[in-house]
Amino acid sequence: MYNAKITATAYHVPEKVVTNQDLEKILDTSDEWIRTRTGIRERRFAARGETTSDLAAAASQKLLEQRGIAARDVDCIVVATITPDMFFPSTACLVQEKIGAKRAWGFDLSGACSGFLYALATASQFVHSGAYRKVLVIGADLMTSILNPKDRNTYVLFGDAAGAILLEPTRRGEQGIIDFILRCDGSGGRFLCMPGGGSLHPASHETVRKNMHFVHQDGRAVFKYAVQGMAEVTTDILKRNHIRASDLALFVPHQANIRIIDAVAERLGLHPSKVVRNIEDFANTTAATLPIGIAESHERRRLHKGDLVLLATFGAGFTSGSLLFRWTL
Ligand code: COA
Repeated sequence: MYNAKITATAYHVPEKVVTNQDLEKILDTSDEWIRTRTGIRERRFAARGETTSDLAAAASQKLLEQRGIAARDVDCIVVATITPDMFFPSTACLVQEKIGAKRAWGFDLSGACSGFLYALATASQFVHSGAYRKVLVIGADLMTSILNPKDRNTYVLFGDAAGAILLEPTRRGEQGIIDFILRCDGSGGRFLCMPGGGSLHPASHETVRKNMHFVHQDGRAVFKYAVQGMAEVTTDILKRNHIRASDLALFVPHQANIRIIDAVAERLGLHPSKVVRNIEDFANTTAATLPIGIAESHERRRLHKGDLVLLATFGAGFTSGSLLFRWTL
């Protein structure tokens, strides 16, 4: 039995930067409101025709270059997304074709903002069991494809992006992924969802007229559950591994709202210097926030060999999770 470890990480965002000032021109909102309530300054929006699989493939290409391996070497591709290019085939199949990972199989996983953490935990088991040696785990979402441009409650909160990591078996003496907690509470489903287009309300003139193909959210309810849910999954994982928050080198939380991040960090008693925050630049990119957080931290040399890192997330479902790993690069 092996543990799984992260051996490469990369992300890709669309070129187009949309600032709060840009949004002031099209919505009844203000830079001041968005910044103080969410921490967001700007986000990236995909160009017309650019798809989730395009962003995912671009992040994957960067990752393969960084690791110095060919796409043919990848065994399996797991894509966490709630904005696939289409219902089927899966985004994983589209990415497989785009990057030329001819030997790989793959599938999509729907866990909303917790999707990447769910995918990472799932993929780690393929490595842990010895079934596969190189698993590409991608978090990618093109949120603008499901946002109502006229709804200030949601349109200002999200951005488009993809992030990827490669999982491989640990060597002797390495720890890699140590533990994870995955949870969901289906009773929270109504607070954050996209009601139209599925088998309950198949796409029709009626569903489009009622804006059912857009994200619907009760922000206040989600906020409350997010702080509580993330605080629980983080304290529980630390407790059961006999780890103090002060032992952590870095905390990478899902980026939904700076106030949620700060509240959870405060409950953990973490110094702000140990908390990754990039919501300012990218807003909430759903499944992509965690891989971007890891990739940026690696790029900026905030991660060192042997560092203990905690990931935490919360999202629609409600879903939540935490994952503890040791950085081995
Ligand atoms: N610009 C200006 N005003 C806005 C606005 C915007 N973009 N969006 C909402 N408002 C208004 C509301 O209409 C409300 O007005 P009202 O009091 O006249 O009804 C007012 O601002 C306050 O709304 P409220 O919901 O209390 O704000 P808030 O402090 O809770 O912040 C969110 C709203 C959405 C930023 C916050 O609730 C949040 O982040 N929730 C969690 C969302 C989340 O994490 N989602 C993803 C889960 S992974």
